[in-house]
Amino acid sequence: MKSIIITGGAGFIGSHVVRRFVKNYPNYKIYNLDKLTYAGNLENLRDIEASPNYEFVHGDILDVDFVEKLFAEKKIDSVIHLAAESHVDRSISNPLEFVMTNIVGTVTLLNAAKKEWGSNMGDKRFYHVSTDEVYGALGATGLFTEETSYDPHSPYSASKASSDHFVRAYHDTYGIPVVISNCSNNYGSHHFPEKLIPLCIHNIQNNKPLPIYGDGKYTRDWLFVEDHARAIDDVFHKGKLGDTYNIGGFNEWQNIDLVNLLCDIMDKKLDREPGTNRKLITFVKDRPGHDLRYAIDASKIEKDLGWRPSVTFEQGLEKTVDWYLENKGWLENVTSGHYQTYYKNQYQGS
Ligand code: NAD
Ligand code: TYD
Repeated sequence: MKSIIITGGAGFIGSHVVRRFVKNYPNYKIYNLDKLTYAGNLENLRDIEASPNYEFVHGDILDVDFVEKLFAEKKIDSVIHLAAESHVDRSISNPLEFVMTNIVGTVTLLNAAKKEWGSNMGDKRFYHVSTDEVYGALGATGLFTEETSYDPHSPYSASKASSDHFVRAYHDTYGIPVVISNCSNNYGSHHFPEKLIPLCIHNIQNNKPLPIYGDGKYTRDWLFVEDHARAIDDVFHKGKLGDTYNIGGFNEWQNIDLVNLLCDIMDKKLDREPGTNRKLITFVKDRPGHDLRYAIDASKIEKDLGWRPSVTFEQGLEKTVDWYLENKGWLENVTSGHYQTYYKNQYQGS
């Protein structure tokens, strides 16, 4: 029996992690601690919300008293920490919010763990879920390994880098049993349509322009979100305390090639003439400080924990598109209201 807080469980990746743990580990009690910001959505968890080993806890990781009380009352022995502000473009408009949630929020959780666990750390675990963006940008060649020096460029990646440093510092200074993973770009169902792939799926459905920053030659490594959730399961259960694991899809794409592929898949799905959706592609003003290329060396997790991605990009993208086409109501709900204001501000003049 374990008593686990999963923070950010109503968000994109968090909801997949919660679902996996609730279904696969009936003897664990899962507390989903989420503030329900614009990115959090309980619709994402309708299928498991009635499970006896699941409980939603509405709250803010910045609220010290609330977090400490939760640790004590629920006798929490493990944390899987995903709650964050996660969108680079929003971090450029509002860096302070990222400092608060991503750095101060993480330290608040670490403090609560330290207070509650005291010197009895034996079976405890604090798992911090992070991003490859902390390593900065690569040129045309090379891969990020666990030894690559941190070199973040956006307020988002700087805040995640800082939180990673705090997690390691709490391990080295106070003996908190931590483990960290740094993953590449995820895609899949329940992804908020401010990120490239769901934004393009939404716009293709509505015949709206597909905004490509700069020349579209920026490169990302993409991983299907359910494969990330499985990696998180492996790192949580088998990862070596104090260690870091890079997680990636072995799957690099330039943005323009990815969007072309998505357009072609959706031509077929929507019964449109081949080439119809590509006409929606529009090159727009570049993101400031845009990192050229991210690419992950995921050989450590493969060798030590036996993890590898299970689907190809084409399979994963097709599953993703099918989910969005079957769940139009989900997209309509999340794109009403504040999303319209965000979209107008982000893409004005494009
Ligand atoms: P998301 O933006 O979809 O979800 C974040 C969740 O955190 C939301 O449910 C939100 O309500 C919650 N949250 C935000 N502030 C909170 C607070 N103060 N208290 C409690 N809950 C709060 O994010 P995501 O894309 O699912 O990413 C999850 C984690 O994985 C993040 O830590 C992110 O840095 C990391 N990550 C994401 C990716 C990616 O491609 N999306 C890749 C690697 C790592
Ligand atoms: P994004 O999904 O925001 O993830 P991240 O910035 O964390 O990698 O963006 C992925 C890539 O797509 C990145 O190079 C920026 C680019 N991009 C666009 O070209 N247009 C867009 O409208 C968005 C949101 C992203």
